[in-house]
This record gives sequence, C-alpha cells and structure tokens, in this order.
Amino acid sequence: MTNPLSTTQFLHGGDYNPDQWLDQPAVIDNDFELFKSAKLNTITVGIFSWAKLEPSEGHYNFGWLDDIFDRAAAQNMQVILSTPSGARPRWLAAKYSEVLRVDENGHRNEFGERHNHCYTSPIYRKKVQLINRKLAERYGQRDNLILWHVSNEYGGQCYCDLCQAAFRDWLKAKYQTLTQLNHAYWNGFWAHAYTDWQQIQAPNPHGDQNVMGLNLDWKRFVTDRTIDFFETEIKPFRELTPNIPVTTNFMGGNPPESHVFYDLDYQKFATHVDIVSWDSYPNWANGYESTAKLAMKTALMNDMMRSLKQDNYLIMENTPSQVNWHPYNRAKRPGMHEMASLQEIAHGADSIMYFQLHQSRGASEMFHGAVITNNLSDQTRVFKDVTTVGADLEAMQAIHATTHRIAEVAIVFDYDNMWALDDARNYANATKQYWVTIQNQYQYFWEHDIPVDVVGTDVDLAAYKLVIDPMHFMMSKGFAAKLKTYVAQGGTLVGTYITGLVDSNFLAYQGSWLPDLQATYGLAVTETDTYYPGQHNQIKAFGNTYESRDYSDILTISDAEVLGTYGQDFYAGSAALTKHVLGQGTAYYLAGRGESALHHDFYQRVATKLQLKSMLPIKKETSNVSIQIRENATMRYYFVINFSHQATQIQFATKLMNVLHGNQNVQGKQSLAAYGVQIFSEKK
Ligand code: GLA
Ligand code: ZN
Repeated sequence: MTNPLSTTQFLHGGDYNPDQWLDQPAVIDNDFELFKSAKLNTITVGIFSWAKLEPSEGHYNFGWLDDIFDRAAAQNMQVILSTPSGARPRWLAAKYSEVLRVDENGHRNEFGERHNHCYTSPIYRKKVQLINRKLAERYGQRDNLILWHVSNEYGGQCYCDLCQAAFRDWLKAKYQTLTQLNHAYWNGFWAHAYTDWQQIQAPNPHGDQNVMGLNLDWKRFVTDRTIDFFETEIKPFRELTPNIPVTTNFMGGNPPESHVFYDLDYQKFATHVDIVSWDSYPNWANGYESTAKLAMKTALMNDMMRSLKQDNYLIMENTPSQVNWHPYNRAKRPGMHEMASLQEIAHGADSIMYFQLHQSRGASEMFHGAVITNNLSDQTRVFKDVTTVGADLEAMQAIHATTHRIAEVAIVFDYDNMWALDDARNYANATKQYWVTIQNQYQYFWEHDIPVDVVGTDVDLAAYKLVIDPMHFMMSKGFAAKLKTYVAQGGTLVGTYITGLVDSNFLAYQGSWLPDLQATYGLAVTETDTYYPGQHNQIKAFGNTYESRDYSDILTISDAEVLGTYGQDFYAGSAALTKHVLGQGTAYYLAGRGESALHHDFYQRVATKLQLKSMLPIKKETSNVSIQIRENATMRYYFVINFSHQATQIQFATKLMNVLHGNQNVQGKQSLAAYGVQIFSEKK
C-alpha cells in the first residue's frame, strides 16, 4: 500500500488553537513568523473549536478559520482540519441533554470536560454531521487542506438508554436467539438466564460484573459503536472530498508500562481510516528504567501502529519538551527531542507533529510543553530543539518516499485476548501483563535490529519466517488450525504458557488441550502454576540455569523434544521449553516465564537458525544503539540512534553517505554522541 497523503514532505507542525486569542492578531502574526523559523510546514486546526465555529445553534462564524487557512497558504503551510466533536459547545448540551454521556452508575454527566458525548444520540450525530458538512463545503477545495483529523482521541463509553438499546440490537444481530446468548454467557450459572432481551444491561458495578461473555461483548460493542460514530462523522467527507484522506488520532504507549491503548480495538478501527495516526508520549529520562528500555517499548508501539495497515503512519501529537500529565513531568534532556523524533521516523512515521504549537495561557494545559511557550520567544531550548528536527526533516526529504524494511518476524497481539485474559478469574491480576509479555519477547529483536510486525489473528502468517504467539489465552479453533498449517508449511512458531484455554465466547474448551495445538507443539498442557511475588523456579536449558517466575505450565509430552526443564518443585525435571517438528516447520513452546537472559539465549538460537539477522554494514558496540532501516527500490537508509547517555562507536563495513551532514562519505569508525542520531544511506 502507499501512503494516501498527496504531500511529498515529512509533516512537521502540530495542534494549533489560535481560537484562544483571536482578539490579539499580533500574537497570531508572531506565531506564523515563528512557524517559519522553526521550519514547520503543517498546522492541525479546529480541534475543540466548535464554540467558535458555531457560537449559537445554526449561526456560524468561519471568518477566523478562513484567515488561518489564508495565512498558512501564504507561507506554503499545509492544513490538517479537525472535526470539533471532541468537545461540544454549551448551547448544544443545554438544549439537548441526551448528547452528554451517562456513566456506569446511570448518572448523566453535566456539561464539562471534553470527550463527554454519547456515541449513539441521534441529535449529536446529526449536529456533528452538520458542522462537518459545513467544514467540507467551506474548506474541502482549499489547495492546502491535506487531511481530515476526525474528532480527537476517541475513547470512553456511554451507558444511556440509547446506548443500552443499541447494545441489545448488537447482541440480537450476533446471537439471533436468547437461547444462544444464554449458552454463550453460561447463564445457567447463578440463575442468570435472560428471558427477555430487555433484561440485558451493560456490565456495571451495581449489576453484572462476572458474566465473562457479557463483559467481553460490551468491550467489542464499544469499539463497534465508536467506529459507527466515526463513520457517521466522515460521511460528508466521503461525499464532498473523496480525495482528502481521513484519520483519527489513536493513543498508546503511556507510562508507566508504555501500554497499548486499552479501550478500543485499533486493529478493527484501522480498517476504517485511510492512514493511521497516533499520539506518542513516552516519559523519557524517567529514572526507573534505562533510556534504551523505554526506547525498546516505544519502538514496539511504533511497530504496532505501522502494522495496523502495514503502511507508513503519522505521529499526530508528541510533546516538544515535557507534558503536564505524567506522574512527573520531566524535561527532555538535551538531544533527546531529536533522538525521539527520528526514532519514530525510523519505524515508518511520516510526520513529527506536536501538541502544541502555541502554549495555552490558562486552563488545564497551560504548562504543557509547546513549540512557542508563553514567553513568545524563539530563544528557548524547546524552540531550538524543534528547529533542529525541522532542519533534519528537510535534509532527509528523500527518505519520505520509503517504507520500513519488511519484517520476517511477527508477534501476535489480539485485543479480545487481552481483555479476556485480564478478566479471567484465574492466575494473578498483578502479573498477567500480556503487553509486558509482548515487550519481553520483542526485546531481543529490537536489540539485534531485526524488524518485527505486531499482527492480529486475521493476518496471513505465511508472510513471516517466525511467528511469536505469547499468552494466547482466548484462541479460536480456527486460529489453532491456522497455526498448525503455518508450521506444517514451513513456519517457525513460538508459543508460551497460558495458551488455548477458552473460545471466542469465553467458554472453556472441554477435554484435553486443543487437538490442533497438541499436534502443533507435540504436547499437552495439563496444569498452570501461578506464583506469589518472590517465589521462583528455574528453567535449565542450553547448559544454563535461568530464573523463572509468575507462571509455569506443566506439560505432558507426546512427541516434542525437550530443550529445557524446570529446576524445582513437584514438577522439577519436567519439560519447560520444547521443540516440535511438524511437516516443514518447527514449533517451540516456552512453558514458564523466564528471565530476559533466557529469551536472549533462546531467540539467538532461533534467529541464527532462521538467518534472521539482517546483514548490516554498520557494527555497533552496545545494544543501546538501535539501527532501523527504511528503503525503496533504489535506496536504503540506516537510522542509527544511541539511546544511552554515553557516547559510543560505530564501524562501517562499506562506504555509506551521511544524510544529515551534506551526504558526505563515511567509512572506518565514527563516534555517536549520547542520544545521538545519524542516518546513513547506500544505493541498492
Ligand atoms: C492528548 C490530547 C491533546 C492534549 C494532549 C496533552 O493527546 O489529544 O488534546 O490534551 O493529550 O498531552
Ligand atoms: Zn449513550
């Protein structure tokens, strides 16, 4: 696929809300001057601007936005235009209270905050469509409009009667009959059988919270409802501006775990947008983990976002300095802004956009980092950092027409599985940590510069040499069969503890472990042991003893080869790591949660066997340095980034050109500063 943005530039800019000082044109004059000096080429406008665009019902005021479009055009800046649905004006909520959200206790919210709207309300949908239509009619033909930014960070849920009714309709469409629904929810338990569709309520703290299927269906419904709302929002754009692509800004990677955004299934949502964009806020210099560790987690989030459409994506927001909502709002250390920005480009981003271009004077984000801070100067550290990134992006324009190197490794990540595993009344809530488990599998590949995709269950696995499928607790029989076929036809698969226990309805499989999993791995899982904090076991493999913790699957081997065994407890000496050859391929099963040294030694063997290691013409001295590749038919670009606070050396095996420094030839050795970034190119 190719990037649907017509622009041939990396985008550099961000959220701009001049609607906060329309009465001070001098401030806006100054902003646009500073945009030039910071080498910004794009503004995102209109986010949360509804009250300024439609001050009272049916009375519009577009003059100020016309002016912003004109100013941008006059200095060749592009505009990303947002729909204002993220925050409704007071008049709308006052007149039509149904547009406000109802919480899980059944209370209607008051006007306030943002993102506080019902996704079902016919009136809200109508009003949103109307203002979006006006925007499309007025700005759709502007030459510098490049993208629709629909709403802002969709999230949350509404429990109003309209949403409850929509949920019942969704269930009717899915299950057809109450008999089938009652079966799927195992409603014979605790006398829960529904006898009328009207009895169904979304899970909530004063009603049902322990019907696993209901909990999961509600989460699936919330994604579908949000997408349905999004589709309503974009109707006027599809009709009036079919050539302008549409996106909405996804979230992810927030501290402390740099976790994927939890509430919406982005794999599903991504099929509805033309280009993926997301808001990236890693807490650099946090002190509780190394910069390299956080870089690894951030790399994974970027790979996740790239994998959603197997295409380049946009960074719609990041902070040029610090945020105001991390537990501790630390400033980026000198060099870190360039390091962090080019890391995202390295993984396939085609933009570095900021929240925010001009700092707010009041309200909740007045102290959030911004390109232009309240002292309105171009002499701040942040302004210089942004200008440096602007200069980099200009120097590397040729790289815009490239994509991230195609990955041979895939890690399976599935939203239903994440929600189900977390909701399972088993194991230990504190240590399930599905996403952290994915990070731990990913680490080896990141440290060794081997590209990885993060894929859902519907992807074609045959495209990958290696598929890692960790903690796949909720697995359909269809997917188990798919894994078997993948291996039989030559793939290499790694599965882990807590896999293949329930079907897509959240009902336990009956009988022994799924037959297709048994055939694939050459074993059956008979029991899972959950440890308390501080309790450990060992996995003995490759002549070493590795510590393990949290979980141990206890296995019965049929015809797998045992590569590692447990060191302790009543299952000491039994299999903890296995290998099974099936047809043309191989399946490994990692039955216990081992320390990172085990992952390292295990994946090193797998990677060597599969010859995964890209033959890089650059040698590094430490795994704190990451090398990512973007390429096209003729050129290859190596992004070399030092994620440590010490300088290090890199060595070149062939002659390369230094893209950020006048395309000079480099050879031999070169030092890479702390947080330093270099980009080298070679002809293919
Ligand atoms: C989110 C929102 C922005 C802003 C930033 C602050 O990403 O989309 O409006 O609140 O957070 O970091
Ligand atoms: Zn609602």
